[in-house]
Amino acid sequence: MKDIQNIVILTGAGVSAESGVATFRGPDGLWEGHRVEDVATPEAFVRDPDLVQKFYDERRAKLKTVQPNAAHQALAKLDEKWLGDLLLVTQNVDDLHDRAGSQRLLHMHGELNSAWCLACDVRSPFDEVMAAAPACPHCHQPSCLRPDIVWFGEMPYGMERIEHALAQCDLFVSIGTSGAVYPAAGFVQTARHYGARTLEMNLDPSEGSFHFHESRMGKAGALVPDWVEEILRDV
Ligand code: OAD
Repeated sequence: MKDIQNIVILTGAGVSAESGVATFRGPDGLWEGHRVEDVATPEAFVRDPDLVQKFYDERRAKLKTVQPNAAHQALAKLDEKWLGDLLLVTQNVDDLHDRAGSQRLLHMHGELNSAWCLACDVRSPFDEVMAAAPACPHCHQPSCLRPDIVWFGEMPYGMERIEHALAQCDLFVSIGTSGAVYPAAGFVQTARHYGARTLEMNLDPSEGSFHFHESRMGKAGALVPDWVEEILRDV
């Protein structure tokens, strides 16, 4: 791995599955029990804010019962030891990468533990129940908080930083994502366009599996620690 300096890692719900956080697609996925249009669009929030708030309140409450797993921990170790550039881009709105200790981390789809105030436009740390219509921690207006989650039809966070990192990276690694949602699903093509080697680790082939130079199939909790050991061997 001596020729690798700069790494971009993309994670999805599969990296948190072994911690007990539900994925979105598949038999027990969140989108089996809920229609995306009912809970994950700005239109849904206007139509039925209570339903949307309760959906994210449940997910936020669940975070207090789960812990980072071996995959989150291995990625945090890589972040600590890797001397080149590294950016961990997660589509996940849980805080398991943060709690495992990853520093060079970007939550492109927002965070459950953040509240966005529609009155003052400030985002504040938040780990309570939003359906109870609490006041904004910053401007103290009541009933003006929304989950700081990127909904369908909204622009993901940090795209400029991500695109810059993809253009500079020698290795792009995708972990635990179905590759069903753009722009994240297109990162592999961008990285390849700029000459990066590409590796996928997932339980089963993602929708864009054929774009990767290498695919490793299995559970993130086993695959990721092995890969991190492998890549750190030469450091
Ligand atoms: P998905 O639920 O679409 O995909 C999860 C992937 O993880 C699937 O391909 C599974 O096979 C795989 N998987 C499950 N368990 C695994 C394990 N233990 N180890 C490794 N892989 C495993 O979730 P995402 O791809 O993250 O967006 O979904 C992308 C976006 O769609 C989410 O961020 C969310 C959703 O709608 C928004 O809400 C904006």
